[in-house]
Amino acid sequence: MFWNPSSTKGRFIGIFAASLALAALPACSALGGPFGGEADLPPGLRTVDAAWIEGLSTGERTVSVDGKSVTSRYPQVPGAADFTTEVRTAMAERETAFLTGDGGTSLEQEAKFLVASGGVLGARITARTDGAVEGTSRWYDAGSGEALPWTALLNGDEAIDELGAQVSRVLRDEHGVAPNALPPGLPAPASRGLAADDSVEPALVDPEAAWQSAADREGSALEDIGFNAAGELVVSFSPGEAGEGEEDVQVPVPDSEVLLSRFGRSARTAVMEDARSVDLGPADGPVAGLDCDRVPCVALTFDDGPGEDTGLLLEHLDEYSAKATFYVLGSLTESSPETVRSTAEAGHEIGIHTWKHDNLALMGGDAVRDDVERTAAAIKDATGVEVTSMRPPYGSFNETTQANVDYPMILWDVDTLDWQHMNKDKTIDTAVSETQPGSIVLFHDIHRPTVDAIPAVLEQLQGKGYHFVTVSELFADTTLEPGVAYMRRDQGA
Ligand code: NI
Repeated sequence: MFWNPSSTKGRFIGIFAASLALAALPACSALGGPFGGEADLPPGLRTVDAAWIEGLSTGERTVSVDGKSVTSRYPQVPGAADFTTEVRTAMAERETAFLTGDGGTSLEQEAKFLVASGGVLGARITARTDGAVEGTSRWYDAGSGEALPWTALLNGDEAIDELGAQVSRVLRDEHGVAPNALPPGLPAPASRGLAADDSVEPALVDPEAAWQSAADREGSALEDIGFNAAGELVVSFSPGEAGEGEEDVQVPVPDSEVLLSRFGRSARTAVMEDARSVDLGPADGPVAGLDCDRVPCVALTFDDGPGEDTGLLLEHLDEYSAKATFYVLGSLTESSPETVRSTAEAGHEIGIHTWKHDNLALMGGDAVRDDVERTAAAIKDATGVEVTSMRPPYGSFNETTQANVDYPMILWDVDTLDWQHMNKDKTIDTAVSETQPGSIVLFHDIHRPTVDAIPAVLEQLQGKGYHFVTVSELFADTTLEPGVAYMRRDQGA
């Protein structure tokens, strides 16, 4: 939501701006560690290597379509699901805008930690397009479990305006930036310095208000904010944006702690302490994903397998960093457990499609229950995974079925009819032309023409800005009820 390319146009930060700037600073600055004394503290933006966080991993997505290429690397922090989802979604939004917009042939996104200490995480996300870089920041309060925007650091609108005025003053006085050439979102320079005002209590952060404030200030130069080791706020600017010169500019704002919210003060303390320990939530807490309200998502689903060409399908999906859902038969899972296991290990979701494709609407309650549970057990045996959804063969069910199925029933809104026409091009056309944001698309991976269609389906949907998610990810913010049918995101059947 904060990556409107038109409003951030012209706001570029030099390649690897932070590391370049820090390279000129004392050697101890980049990775934390003890500083000699106040006088030695580097004035530039602090970044930390958070690799010591247990279970920290990097998710990567690469896209290459229509002469455009995208690589996005996002941190996955165990116990900080909302932060992981936020950073990934912010990158996904930028990616969709890039792939569906004009200009640019390559986009590379990555995140560097600004802080990982105590109960606070912060990351600077950089988006490099054909050599120019835009930056923004995202924050996390482990106490509430919520991801926060840059505005949450500051003590309300007045503090944001004051920070902007001080940054403008430094740009004018030290970098020769004229008032009419200020970067977006910065007010006229204020001449007075900041004075501590004990009468202003730092406020608790209302996340909703902070996100609204950030949305209202979308594209503001202040988004690219962090702290230096002395605890001063630092705002980063691209070459040419903050006066003449080829290098990026980092503007520290002295005495800026008076502008901070209570969360901002926690973040500042965490940056200065750099304790190399974080207090996050349990690693088996909420699952991180993608916010499908903010980017177009589609769930590709494959029924009736595993089949002979399932392995080839997995290769195609991997090539496009795409995740899918497989509704498998229990009987085939029992005879080819290794295929189902490798499907699950590749990060795809497995669901129930009954034992041998019987019509559940023609069966009694006990028979339905036995069939579904037997299939769930076969999947558990093969993969170790407890399934969370099922799909009735032929989409056929009745009230008896619904009363005896302990899983949500996932149907589809896009039917490729691949089993009927067995035609690769028809499968591609239907999947690409009928998919809408939130769609569930039905394929059958037991048919070779379907498997052969998938690279083109993935490429064309990617070109339209789609992100491929599992059924669970598609419904991550919805509690799916057992025995209830769902055809697409936000729409029960
Ligand atoms: Ni089927």
